[in-house]
Amino acid sequence: MNSVQFAKILLDWHTINKRILPWKEDNDPYKIWLSEIILQQTRVSQGTPYFLRFLKEYPDINALADASSDQVMKSWQGLGYYTRARNLHATAQDVVQRYNSVFPDTYEEVLALKGIGPYTAAAIVSFAYELPYPVVDGNVIRLVSRILGIMEAIESKSVKKHILYFVKQSILDVRPSDFNQAIMDFGATLCTPASPDCTVCPFNQYCKAYQSDMVSSIPFRTKKKERVTRFFHYYDISDPNGMTLLHCRSQNDIWQNLYQFPMLETSSKDSPGQNDIKKELADISDISPESFGHPNKTAEIRQTLTHRKIVGTFYKLVSNTPFMEINKSYCLVDRQKVSNFAFPKIMTTYLADYG
Ligand code: ADE
Repeated sequence: MNSVQFAKILLDWHTINKRILPWKEDNDPYKIWLSEIILQQTRVSQGTPYFLRFLKEYPDINALADASSDQVMKSWQGLGYYTRARNLHATAQDVVQRYNSVFPDTYEEVLALKGIGPYTAAAIVSFAYELPYPVVDGNVIRLVSRILGIMEAIESKSVKKHILYFVKQSILDVRPSDFNQAIMDFGATLCTPASPDCTVCPFNQYCKAYQSDMVSSIPFRTKKKERVTRFFHYYDISDPNGMTLLHCRSQNDIWQNLYQFPMLETSSKDSPGQNDIKKELADISDISPESFGHPNKTAEIRQTLTHRKIVGTFYKLVSNTPFMEINKSYCLVDRQKVSNFAFPKIMTTYLADYG
């Protein structure tokens, strides 16, 4: 099948089957950019309420640039992959300062903004300005490699080049915004990884994978992703005045700028030894582990991210002496008011059940 036929069939399918989504309603680059950042690692169903809430809270790029970093992190809470929120905020400030609050309108300038890769840049310039840049992600690679019956591993550079060439040709014949939205919707709803609905697929008579009964083997991969497990131990300590300690996670690690209880990381599931806890607490405050006895596990919460698994063990403790002096990177917070802070998901899950 050639690229002209491909684009035509895809757009005919889209005319009938398109998903009605709130960011498709206009071509304002601010709204499109916001939706694309939210959808980078988040499903449409989970991202949609966040998109609507963000627009209410930050109706334009100036409102977002003027917000505090804590406020943006709080709005993002629950979406995960928080680097997106930090980059979103930094880019809003950058566009306000360098482009006088007007979103740039060339592919190269959009691509140069923080947090925007080739996929997001193509989505923004096609939806906002009708520029013919195709989006290429796992969904598109799956669809095209099935139709063309590509049996080589899709990690190979020449395969990626082949697929990119095919979609670059296809987008030239049609409205770029329609083409990109159609290919996204098609990959997400019909040509899915595990259970594509080939019997109703408008490409089924052309699809080489379907014709040769190879749909479940294409796209072909050689490597499997490995996930590293990290073990975090959180100490939820209240003092007799109802105060608790929170730490703001620093740069250069996951969950930057989010808050958490004092935490120790270990290389296995075993709890840290009493000496390690003592050393950690001595760095944080004047409180010693003797004031609450040996910590017993209160909860274990697991979280799976793309590249890692997190096992969080929580210890709920009550100290018999008040916190007096605390280290600068910690804050002393009324235990009843901890929900005002932005937390990683593992902390919110714990707080919902044990807070
Ligand atoms: N995933 C990324 N961008 C999207 C969009 N604009 N519509 C639907 N799914 C998407």
